[in-house]
Amino acid sequence: MPFKPSNLGLVMPHGIWSPWASAAVIHVGAEAEVVSGSWIGRPAILKKRVSRGYRHPKLDRTLSRQRIFAESRILARLNERGILAPKLLSMDQEEGWIIMSEVIGPTLLSALMDGAEGDLEVELGKSLRSVHSQGISHGDLTTLNAIVTLDGVVLIDYGLGRLVAEMEHFGLDLHSLHECLSAHHSDRPKAMNKVIQGYLLDPDSDGFDGKSVVDRFESIRGRVRYHA
Ligand SMILES: Nc1ncnc2c1ncn2[C@@H]1O[C@H](COP(=O)(O)OP(=O)(O)O)[C@@H](O)[C@H]1O
Ligand SMILES: [Mg+2]
Repeated sequence: MPFKPSNLGLVMPHGIWSPWASAAVIHVGAEAEVVSGSWIGRPAILKKRVSRGYRHPKLDRTLSRQRIFAESRILARLNERGILAPKLLSMDQEEGWIIMSEVIGPTLLSALMDGAEGDLEVELGKSLRSVHSQGISHGDLTTLNAIVTLDGVVLIDYGLGRLVAEMEHFGLDLHSLHECLSAHHSDRPKAMNKVIQGYLLDPDSDGFDGKSVVDRFESIRGRVRYHA
Protein backbone atom coordinates (compact mmCIF):
# COMPACT_ATOMS: atom_id res chain seq x y z
CA MET A 1 0.00 0.00 0.00
CA PRO A 2 1.50 3.42 -0.88
CA PHE A 3 2.33 5.89 1.87
CA LYS A 4 -0.46 8.41 2.47
CA PRO A 5 -0.08 10.95 5.24
CA SER A 6 -3.86 11.20 5.27
CA ASN A 7 -3.91 7.60 6.41
CA LEU A 8 -2.60 8.05 9.94
CA GLY A 9 -1.07 5.18 11.82
CA LEU A 10 -0.70 3.28 8.58
CA VAL A 11 1.54 0.26 8.81
CA MET A 12 3.65 0.10 5.69
CA PRO A 13 4.19 -3.16 3.77
CA HIS A 14 6.44 -5.67 5.53
CA GLY A 15 5.46 -4.21 8.91
CA ILE A 16 7.45 -0.96 8.47
CA TRP A 17 5.93 2.06 10.19
CA SER A 18 4.89 5.12 8.26
CA PRO A 19 7.72 7.68 7.97
CA TRP A 20 5.23 10.45 8.87
CA ALA A 21 3.67 10.93 12.32
CA SER A 22 1.21 13.78 12.97
CA ALA A 23 1.36 15.88 16.13
CA ALA A 24 -1.10 18.77 15.70
CA VAL A 25 -3.05 20.70 13.11
CA ILE A 26 -1.48 24.17 13.22
CA HIS A 27 -3.32 25.97 10.46
CA VAL A 28 -6.49 25.51 8.42
CA GLY A 29 -6.45 28.05 5.63
CA ALA A 30 -8.50 28.72 2.53
CA GLU A 31 -6.26 26.52 0.37
CA ALA A 32 -4.26 24.31 2.67
CA GLU A 33 -4.21 22.50 5.97
CA VAL A 34 -0.87 22.49 7.80
CA VAL A 35 -0.02 19.75 10.29
CA SER A 36 3.09 19.59 12.46
CA GLY A 37 4.67 16.22 13.09
CA SER A 38 7.76 14.27 12.25
CA TRP A 39 9.26 12.77 9.15
CA ILE A 40 11.53 9.82 9.94
CA GLY A 41 11.90 11.28 13.39
CA ARG A 42 12.70 14.89 12.32
CA PRO A 43 10.43 17.85 13.14
CA ALA A 44 8.43 18.42 9.98
CA ILE A 45 5.41 20.09 8.50
CA LEU A 46 2.81 18.46 6.26
CA LYS A 47 0.99 20.86 3.98
CA LYS A 48 -2.10 19.35 2.36
CA ARG A 49 -4.07 21.16 -0.26
CA VAL A 50 -7.76 21.12 0.61
CA SER A 51 -10.34 21.16 -2.13
CA ARG A 52 -12.46 24.26 -2.43
CA GLY A 53 -16.14 23.47 -2.72
CA TYR A 54 -16.88 26.63 -4.70
CA ARG A 55 -14.50 25.75 -7.53
CA HIS A 56 -15.12 23.28 -10.29
CA PRO A 57 -13.51 19.97 -9.13
CA LYS A 58 -11.38 19.69 -12.25
CA LEU A 59 -10.09 23.27 -12.05
CA ASP A 60 -9.57 22.81 -8.32
CA ARG A 61 -7.41 19.75 -8.90
CA THR A 62 -5.39 21.47 -11.61
CA LEU A 63 -4.73 24.55 -9.47
CA SER A 64 -3.88 22.49 -6.45
CA ARG A 65 -1.42 20.34 -8.41
CA GLN A 66 0.16 23.42 -9.96
CA ARG A 67 0.75 24.96 -6.55
CA ILE A 68 2.19 21.81 -5.02
CA PHE A 69 4.50 21.47 -8.01
CA ALA A 70 5.55 25.14 -7.94
CA GLU A 71 6.22 25.08 -4.21
CA SER A 72 8.22 21.84 -4.40
CA ARG A 73 10.35 22.97 -7.32
CA ILE A 74 11.12 26.29 -5.65
CA LEU A 75 12.00 24.70 -2.30
CA ALA A 76 14.25 22.16 -4.05
CA ARG A 77 16.04 24.95 -5.94
CA LEU A 78 16.49 27.09 -2.82
CA ASN A 79 17.76 24.03 -0.92
CA GLU A 80 20.36 23.16 -3.56
CA ARG A 81 21.54 26.78 -3.72
CA GLY A 82 21.93 26.97 0.07
CA ILE A 83 19.30 29.71 0.50
CA LEU A 84 17.50 29.83 3.86
CA ALA A 85 14.18 27.97 3.34
CA PRO A 86 12.32 24.91 4.62
CA LYS A 87 13.94 21.69 3.33
CA LEU A 88 11.76 19.74 0.91
CA LEU A 89 11.47 16.21 2.36
CA SER A 90 8.73 14.58 0.31
CA MET A 91 5.79 15.44 -1.92
CA ASP A 92 2.94 13.87 -3.85
CA GLN A 93 1.49 15.98 -6.58
CA GLU A 94 -1.42 13.59 -7.26
CA GLU A 95 -2.58 13.63 -3.66
CA GLY A 96 -1.61 17.27 -3.22
CA TRP A 97 0.76 17.36 -0.27
CA ILE A 98 4.30 18.42 0.64
CA ILE A 99 6.37 17.47 3.65
CA MET A 100 9.09 19.96 4.59
CA SER A 101 11.32 20.65 7.55
CA GLU A 102 9.78 22.70 10.34
CA VAL A 103 11.11 26.24 10.66
CA ILE A 104 11.22 27.04 14.36
CA GLY A 105 10.14 30.52 15.42
CA PRO A 106 7.24 32.97 15.47
CA THR A 107 5.79 34.38 12.26
CA LEU A 108 7.10 37.83 11.39
CA LEU A 109 3.52 39.09 11.83
CA SER A 110 3.43 38.09 15.48
CA ALA A 111 7.04 39.15 16.15
CA LEU A 112 6.30 42.65 14.82
CA MET A 113 2.96 42.82 16.64
CA ASP A 114 4.78 41.94 19.86
CA GLY A 115 7.04 44.94 19.25
CA ALA A 116 10.17 42.91 18.50
CA GLU A 117 13.44 44.74 19.00
CA GLY A 118 16.08 44.83 16.29
CA ASP A 119 15.82 45.35 12.59
CA LEU A 120 13.64 42.46 11.51
CA GLU A 121 12.53 44.41 8.46
CA VAL A 122 16.15 44.75 7.29
CA GLU A 123 16.56 40.98 7.73
CA LEU A 124 13.39 40.45 5.72
CA GLY A 125 14.79 42.61 2.90
CA LYS A 126 18.03 40.59 2.90
CA SER A 127 16.13 37.29 2.77
CA LEU A 128 13.91 38.45 -0.07
CA ARG A 129 16.93 39.53 -2.09
CA SER A 130 18.61 36.16 -1.57
CA VAL A 131 15.52 34.45 -3.02
CA HIS A 132 15.18 36.94 -5.91
CA SER A 133 18.88 36.66 -6.73
CA GLN A 134 18.17 33.01 -7.66
CA GLY A 135 15.58 34.18 -10.20
CA ILE A 136 12.69 33.13 -7.93
CA SER A 137 9.72 35.31 -6.98
CA HIS A 138 7.48 34.57 -3.99
CA GLY A 139 4.03 35.60 -5.25
CA ASP A 140 2.29 36.05 -1.89
CA LEU A 141 4.64 38.00 0.31
CA THR A 142 3.17 38.94 3.68
CA THR A 143 4.49 39.01 7.25
CA LEU A 144 2.48 35.82 7.86
CA ASN A 145 4.55 33.99 5.25
CA ALA A 146 7.83 34.70 7.02
CA ILE A 147 9.24 33.07 10.16
CA VAL A 148 11.78 34.68 12.47
CA THR A 149 14.65 32.35 13.38
CA LEU A 150 18.09 32.73 14.93
CA ASP A 151 19.59 32.45 11.41
CA GLY A 152 17.41 35.19 9.90
CA VAL A 153 13.93 35.66 8.49
CA VAL A 154 12.83 32.56 6.54
CA LEU A 155 10.22 32.96 3.79
CA ILE A 156 7.66 30.17 3.44
CA ASP A 157 4.56 29.41 1.31
CA TYR A 158 5.88 29.40 -2.26
CA GLY A 159 2.75 27.98 -3.93
CA LEU A 160 2.29 31.15 -6.00
CA GLY A 161 5.99 31.65 -6.63
CA ARG A 162 7.80 31.51 -9.95
CA LEU A 163 11.00 29.63 -10.56
CA VAL A 164 11.81 31.83 -13.53
CA ALA A 165 10.50 35.23 -12.55
CA GLU A 166 10.52 38.53 -14.43
CA MET A 167 11.30 42.02 -13.15
CA GLU A 168 7.56 42.68 -12.72
CA HIS A 169 7.20 39.69 -10.37
CA PHE A 170 10.11 40.86 -8.23
CA GLY A 171 8.60 44.38 -8.08
CA LEU A 172 5.20 42.90 -7.18
CA ASP A 173 6.75 41.02 -4.25
CA LEU A 174 7.96 44.32 -2.79
CA HIS A 175 4.59 45.83 -3.54
CA SER A 176 2.57 43.12 -1.72
CA LEU A 177 4.89 43.49 1.23
CA HIS A 178 4.37 47.23 1.20
CA GLU A 179 0.58 46.75 1.23
CA CYS A 180 0.82 44.26 4.08
CA LEU A 181 3.07 46.55 6.14
CA SER A 182 0.79 49.57 5.64
CA ALA A 183 -2.32 47.55 6.49
CA HIS A 184 -1.10 45.57 9.50
CA HIS A 185 2.03 47.27 10.82
CA SER A 186 1.27 50.98 10.53
CA ASP A 187 2.84 51.46 13.98
CA ARG A 188 6.21 50.90 12.28
CA PRO A 189 6.14 53.59 9.59
CA LYS A 190 9.78 53.05 8.61
CA ALA A 191 9.24 49.34 7.97
CA MET A 192 9.24 49.47 4.16
CA ASN A 193 12.30 51.75 4.06
CA LYS A 194 14.11 49.23 6.21
CA VAL A 195 13.06 46.35 3.96
CA ILE A 196 14.52 48.23 0.99
CA GLN A 197 17.63 49.07 2.97
CA GLY A 198 18.13 45.32 3.62
CA TYR A 199 17.32 44.50 0.00
CA LEU A 200 20.04 46.88 -1.24
CA LEU A 201 22.55 46.32 1.56
CA ASP A 202 25.12 44.24 -0.27
CA PRO A 203 24.59 45.13 -3.93
CA ASP A 204 27.72 43.51 -5.35
CA SER A 205 27.45 40.19 -3.54
CA ASP A 206 25.33 38.27 -6.05
CA GLY A 207 25.34 40.02 -9.43
CA PHE A 208 21.62 40.73 -9.04
CA ASP A 209 20.22 44.10 -10.08
CA GLY A 210 18.32 44.92 -6.88
CA LYS A 211 18.17 48.63 -7.71
CA SER A 212 16.05 47.94 -10.82
CA VAL A 213 13.64 45.89 -8.71
CA VAL A 214 13.22 48.78 -6.27
CA ASP A 215 12.65 51.14 -9.25
CA ARG A 216 10.02 48.74 -10.60
CA PHE A 217 8.34 48.62 -7.18
CA GLU A 218 8.20 52.45 -7.12
CA SER A 219 6.58 52.49 -10.55
CA ILE A 220 4.03 49.79 -9.58
CA ARG A 221 3.24 51.84 -6.47
CA GLY A 222 2.72 54.91 -8.65
CA ARG A 223 0.48 52.96 -11.03
CA VAL A 224 -1.66 51.60 -8.19
CA ARG A 225 -1.93 55.01 -6.51
CA TYR A 226 -2.93 56.61 -9.80
CA HIS A 227 -5.72 54.09 -10.36
CA ALA A 228 -6.91 54.04 -6.74
N1 LIG B 1 7.93 24.87 7.20
C1 LIG B 1 7.19 25.43 8.17
N2 LIG B 1 7.69 25.57 9.42
C2 LIG B 1 6.95 26.13 10.41
N3 LIG B 1 5.70 26.59 10.25
C3 LIG B 1 5.14 26.48 9.03
C4 LIG B 1 5.85 25.92 7.91
N4 LIG B 1 5.04 25.93 6.84
C5 LIG B 1 3.88 26.49 7.25
N5 LIG B 1 3.94 26.83 8.56
C6 LIG B 1 2.86 27.47 9.37
O1 LIG B 1 1.60 27.22 8.77
C7 LIG B 1 1.02 28.46 8.32
C8 LIG B 1 0.35 28.25 6.97
O2 LIG B 1 1.28 27.74 6.01
P1 LIG B 1 1.37 28.34 4.54
O3 LIG B 1 2.44 27.60 3.81
O4 LIG B 1 1.56 29.83 4.66
O5 LIG B 1 -0.06 27.96 3.95
P2 LIG B 1 -1.24 28.85 3.27
O6 LIG B 1 -1.04 28.66 1.79
O7 LIG B 1 -2.51 28.28 3.77
O8 LIG B 1 -1.04 30.29 3.71
C9 LIG B 1 2.17 29.47 8.28
O9 LIG B 1 1.73 30.80 8.45
C10 LIG B 1 3.05 28.97 9.42
O10 LIG B 1 2.56 29.46 10.65
MG1 LIG C 1 0.58 31.46 3.93
